[in-house]
Amino acid sequence: MTGAGRGLGKDIARMLAGRGYRVMVTDIDADSAAAAAAEIGGGATWAAVDVRDHSQVEAARDALLAQGGRLEVWVNNAGVLLTGPAWEQTEDQRRLLMEVNALGTINGTIAAIDAMRDHGPGSSAGSEGGPGGASSGGHIITIASLAGISAVPGEAVYAASKHAVMGFSTSTAIDLRLAGVDDIAISCICPDGIWTPMIHDKLTDPQAALSFSGSLLQPGDVVRAVGRVLDSPRLVTAVPSWRGALARLGATFPRLAVAGLPLMAAQGRRTQRRILATQESARR
Ligand SMILES: NC(=O)c1ccc[n+]([C@@H]2O[C@H](COP(=O)([O-])OP(=O)(O)OC[C@H]3O[C@@H](n4cnc5c(N)ncnc54)[C@H](O)[C@@H]3O)[C@@H](O)[C@H]2O)c1
Repeated sequence: MTGAGRGLGKDIARMLAGRGYRVMVTDIDADSAAAAAAEIGGGATWAAVDVRDHSQVEAARDALLAQGGRLEVWVNNAGVLLTGPAWEQTEDQRRLLMEVNALGTINGTIAAIDAMRDHGPGSSAGSEGGPGGASSGGHIITIASLAGISAVPGEAVYAASKHAVMGFSTSTAIDLRLAGVDDIAISCICPDGIWTPMIHDKLTDPQAALSFSGSLLQPGDVVRAVGRVLDSPRLVTAVPSWRGALARLGATFPRLAVAGLPLMAAQGRRTQRRILATQESARR
């Protein structure tokens, strides 16, 4: 699990542990990774991993294999969200978004494929009984976003990074088939806005309105979707599916998106104000 020190990642890690997986919780924030692993229990381990750095990602994967298991599931979850028109962001901010969300997913997916192929049946490492002994393929689950399907005004570079995630993941899934690798599945989850720390501080940010424009999800909604693809891998799953259909409609008919997205942003701002008001009245 990447980026699992808090938010959605921690909840997915807990679900995986509950299903009997021995989970490695990784995060750029070592303290939160350690605390999450302790909280989850079930033999969960942790490592500080910055997904932007391929060597750190590989080192964590190798540490996991050295523990004697095999890599059955890899979850690319680490992500960052910075809002605002691209031209108002600094180069460092744009780079951070692209590197964590897009490059991080590429790094994780490649590290996972290497392990899942190297230790598969018939491979030299597998026949030598490499770390964890023989195994057969695996499953890579990537937390993308509806922002990977449609335009998201106010979150343009985030949307660019998530479109990169989708382009990379769907293409790689097909490359695996073309290479005759049928035992490694890739599943992308594309959620609507989720009430996690990523957007807890964005109630007063009009640029984040699109994140609040649908049925704001709870982490559990997405964890359940991950549970479903665990049972039955699926290349692309939008959560909820009706918002996925709307996002695909906008992507197919861009003029419709240009007309409709400002209305959705207005709806999102109303939701932001409503949640703020609820929080304030609860404080009083
Ligand atoms: N919250 C939403 O509205 C929403 C909607 C759709 C998709 N998503 C996606 O869900 C995933 C989880 O996000 P979340 O909502 O739980 O956010 P979050 O901010 O609560 O958690 C993200 C985690 O990623 C970690 N992280 C950040 N940079 C990292 C790096 N370089 N290397 C490793 N870890 C790093 C953070 O420390 C944090 O623990 C992300 O990919 C996000 O883009 C979130």
